[in-house]
Amino acid sequence: MLIAHISDFHVFHDRAETPLVRPDATRAARRVVEDMAQFSPGFDAVAFTGDLTDGGSAEDYGLLRDVLSPLKVPVFAVPGNHDKRTTLRSTFGDSIPFEEGHFLNYEAHLGFLRILALDTLIEGRSEGALAPASLDWLAGKLALPARGPTLLLLHHPPFPSSIASLDRAALTVGREEMVEILRAYRAPLFILAGHIHRPFQAVWNGAYCAVAGSPAFQIALDLAVSEHEPGQVSEPYAYYVYRIDETGSFTVHTRFVALD
Ligand SMILES: [Fe+2]
Repeated sequence: MLIAHISDFHVFHDRAETPLVRPDATRAARRVVEDMAQFSPGFDAVAFTGDLTDGGSAEDYGLLRDVLSPLKVPVFAVPGNHDKRTTLRSTFGDSIPFEEGHFLNYEAHLGFLRILALDTLIEGRSEGALAPASLDWLAGKLALPARGPTLLLLHHPPFPSSIASLDRAALTVGREEMVEILRAYRAPLFILAGHIHRPFQAVWNGAYCAVAGSPAFQIALDLAVSEHEPGQVSEPYAYYVYRIDETGSFTVHTRFVALD
């Protein structure tokens, strides 16, 4: 099973709401998608961990749909803090099996792989939360016997990046409760996230964790304890390529894409 992991495209139709987003974010996104579409052997699916668009308008999602159209495999997306639930649901509800109700959580299956997608969006805020209803949903899903490995997708990392200012704006509500749920789970679990705009990997509560980078803008590596958000940096962009087998064996590669 071959999975691509992308994040934080921040595609916008009219103008970017986020000053750091590159003016040609759509062109950069198209380059990444073109590379994924041509990758051989083909991917079985794409995990897209939020900030799909920069503003969340219907026009933004319409443009994103067009950007993603070369991909002929399922794209499992979760909302980021720049997304909007209503327009995301209405644009992608035909291809993503969102649960009914307020939150955009969902479960999907791809062969032996189970995908659990979590909605951590607090509309209008940068940081994220797992509401009690979403925690209950996750606990219920993980209480069922697993047939194989599980990919857990969410935008706001519950695990630390060690970039202090960004960790304060990551998953701030429901994190401890999530740890309790994960600690009781014994089968292979991989947690994929975004939000930090800098790729990194971690092992947290026994699970492999990764944040995918962003083609829209990247932030510098600054591990000093600081109040200030690290500045922008221009570094080569790569998305992750995961090969997963039924036993939970997991290989990670970085696939570099020239954006300029
Ligand atoms: Fe973002």
